[in-house]
Amino acid sequence: MPRTALSDLIASRLPLLQAPMAGAQDAALALAVCAAGGVGGLPAAMLAPEALQAQLQALRAQAQGPWNVNFFCHTPPAPDAAAQARWRQALAPLYAEAGIDPDTVPADVGRQPFSDALADLLEPFAPPVVSFHFGLPAPGLLARVKSWGSRVLSSATTVEEARWLEAHGADAVIAQGLEAGGHRGMFLTRELGTQLGTFALLPQVVAAVRLPVIAAGGIPDAAGVRAAMALGAAGVQVGTAYLCCPEARTSALHRAALQSQAARHTELTTLFSGRPARGIVNRLMRTLGPLNPAAPAFPTASAAIAPLRAHFEALGRSDCTPLWSGQNASACRAVPAGELTAALAQGLDRA
Ligand SMILES: Cc1cc2nc3c(=O)[nH]c(=O)nc-3n(C[C@H](O)[C@H](O)[C@H](O)COP(=O)(O)O)c2cc1C
Repeated sequence: MPRTALSDLIASRLPLLQAPMAGAQDAALALAVCAAGGVGGLPAAMLAPEALQAQLQALRAQAQGPWNVNFFCHTPPAPDAAAQARWRQALAPLYAEAGIDPDTVPADVGRQPFSDALADLLEPFAPPVVSFHFGLPAPGLLARVKSWGSRVLSSATTVEEARWLEAHGADAVIAQGLEAGGHRGMFLTRELGTQLGTFALLPQVVAAVRLPVIAAGGIPDAAGVRAAMALGAAGVQVGTAYLCCPEARTSALHRAALQSQAARHTELTTLFSGRPARGIVNRLMRTLGPLNPAAPAFPTASAAIAPLRAHFEALGRSDCTPLWSGQNASACRAVPAGELTAALAQGLDRA
């Protein structure tokens, strides 16, 4: 298997990363990818500290080869009661249909950014790789992560973001194209018009930075891996294609949507969290419009959706469920993650 600047940097057998996917997987998927020679990823953004600790223990004890743990590093917004009231107003017809009193729905802040407390928890594990979404933590915090030897990755959605990550201490850059499922890692801009498809973004990022560049977004198979490597990628990060593996924790409703015709129509939406993320179009997105301005700042949109999501899921319906998916879900099948990793690795042979 050819070595790349990325496999050298993180000492992995393959320059293939399984994208950390919050809410859809835990250490089981990461371990299966590591066993196949890839770099498994644990999403930490939605884990309570005790759960994160248990997952890290599993990875440390069982991982064959390097693994990655991923955090968000957004700045939480100040509480905004007026914005929450507007959001609940926009959702009022759905609350009425579900028989939910909006005044009983708590305004929980949800996802927490990386912090000194999380760094305290992480330090004894010294993960081989730590990746971030939405930029990088503050310099002192980042220095802590690097001080125990972790390699640091983060997503760039524009050339400017890639240059910024290089200037601020990332060891490699993930070029996240517009096709990607889940949240866009954008952090220097909010303008969706700046967002490029993977094969437009990747070569421009490769030309702009000296760091190894990892391609992500819409890459489901060996042919996609080969194409990304031909455009200068030092590695590839794959998310959506892993969602139907038995080791993932993807819900039955989400799996069914990914394997249906519905998966051909994804949109960027701010409705589920407040930041743009790509998912399969469902009733909530159709009803409110995927980018409705009533959705409050990230991550405070989620709490108001949670009881609606639970109500419809209990009826076997994904009306208000985020069905995160990239634009190419064609490889979503119930194959073991090791098998999928081996299939993706075939794209490295002649790269
Ligand atoms: C269900 C889902 C959840 C995701 N959650 C995260 C996350 O927690 N952290 C992160 O850095 N990226 C997350 N992503 C984005 C991935 O890192 C990656 O950019 C994307 O999966 C690549 O595109 P693809 O899905 O077309 O393969 C998520 C993607 C999906 C599909």
